[in-house]
Amino acid sequence: MKPGDLDLANPDSFETGQPYDYFRVLREQAPVHWNPPNGQDSGLGPMLEGFFVVSRYTDVIDVSRTPKIFSSAVGTVFLPDHTPEQLASFRLMLINMDPPEHVRYRRLIQRGFTPKMVKQLEPRIRKHATRVVDGVAKQGECDFVEGLAAVLPLILICELAGFPEEDRHKIFKWSNQMIGGEDPEMSNKETQQAAAASAFLYAQELAARKRKEPDDTLISKYIHGEIEGRTVGEAEIASFVTLLLAAGSETTRTATSHGMWLLCQHPDQYDLLRSDVDRYLPGAIEEILRYHPPILLMRRTATQDTEIRGVPIAKGQKVATYYGSANRDEEFFTDPDRFDITRAPNPHLTFGIGEHFCLGASLARMQLNCIFREILTRLPDMQISEPPRLQRSSLADGIKEMRVRFTPEA
Ligand code: HEM
Repeated sequence: MKPGDLDLANPDSFETGQPYDYFRVLREQAPVHWNPPNGQDSGLGPMLEGFFVVSRYTDVIDVSRTPKIFSSAVGTVFLPDHTPEQLASFRLMLINMDPPEHVRYRRLIQRGFTPKMVKQLEPRIRKHATRVVDGVAKQGECDFVEGLAAVLPLILICELAGFPEEDRHKIFKWSNQMIGGEDPEMSNKETQQAAAASAFLYAQELAARKRKEPDDTLISKYIHGEIEGRTVGEAEIASFVTLLLAAGSETTRTATSHGMWLLCQHPDQYDLLRSDVDRYLPGAIEEILRYHPPILLMRRTATQDTEIRGVPIAKGQKVATYYGSANRDEEFFTDPDRFDITRAPNPHLTFGIGEHFCLGASLARMQLNCIFREILTRLPDMQISEPPRLQRSSLADGIKEMRVRFTPEA
């Protein structure tokens, strides 16, 4: 294999999962590699411009930590090329802002996501996790993705945003359609746009309600917060809620599903974890996150002519940082292809780094902890019964379906 053998804008390149062998070739031979345009619309938008693939750990950090040169706002964090209208709408999302604007918006909401706040949520998350496992425990088999992995993140998004819990089925459908644009089984251009529009409208209605009747949900605080003397606008609120739906549910679901799959593929690690869940679970979660990051990449756009490792990058060109490659950089991780739940330290970049470091990281970790603790103690012989079906995507390492079986709970 050599640099250029795979087109990373083509979802078919991820058909059997992330191309870790190709990433290794890039790290060794072309750490700042030009992926040419393919002119195609994979379902997320046309790829008319090429992009630089950044595959080494330190370079992913440097790019993420230099928003002045590598902007999230100019072209958004999504790889395809967008129309001016799309750009204007995407830029209302926190994830697609640059400092100083980004800092102002992030400050309004980050208090709701601190490790301390998440710790306070722990008893509730535990109770929800118990309920989720109750839902399948007597069946002896189920689809892990829909029955176990997807439910807890959705319940929490509903709680955070103040949506009625019954609406989680709608939200599940919308988030799948929004993120599944490249997978004909999940979505297409029309359903993707319709889902984004429905989610936006739903969020707007919620915002209007909370404006009249403030409460202590995160969204209410956002709505009543001020940025430079003016309250946050409707469209900004709806954009934030849409981001929460997409970023907060799909990712944690994927990490949970990959986690179970990884444990089944590594029986020695599965046994070790079950031998002392309290002791090994936190490390296992970090290793699951390192091994298969749910989000493949984030994009930045150069705001000036610059270079990385001597490779010139012109103003306006795209740079894509691949977390799955950084997490297996042999300079920072010993024996990186080994799945080792005792790995320490484990400074993976799955939640990004720098100003945009994932706002939901503590919440995601807490959810993973609660759901795995419940599964490992109540359904300890869980095994995969059919090969998992992967999402066709160049952005997310999603799993669509994964049948599992286990001894039913008495
Ligand atoms: C395993 C689960 C998750 C993964 C792998 C993940 C990954 C990421 C990554 C890589 C970024 C950085 C984007 C960048 O640098 O451009 C990010 C940002 C973000 N994530 Fe997560 N995320 C997860 C869970 C969550 C959850 C549960 C929530 C909320 C409920 C959330 C909300 C956000 C938000 C709001 C941002 C934007 C932050 C900003 O721009 O300042 N994420 N996430």
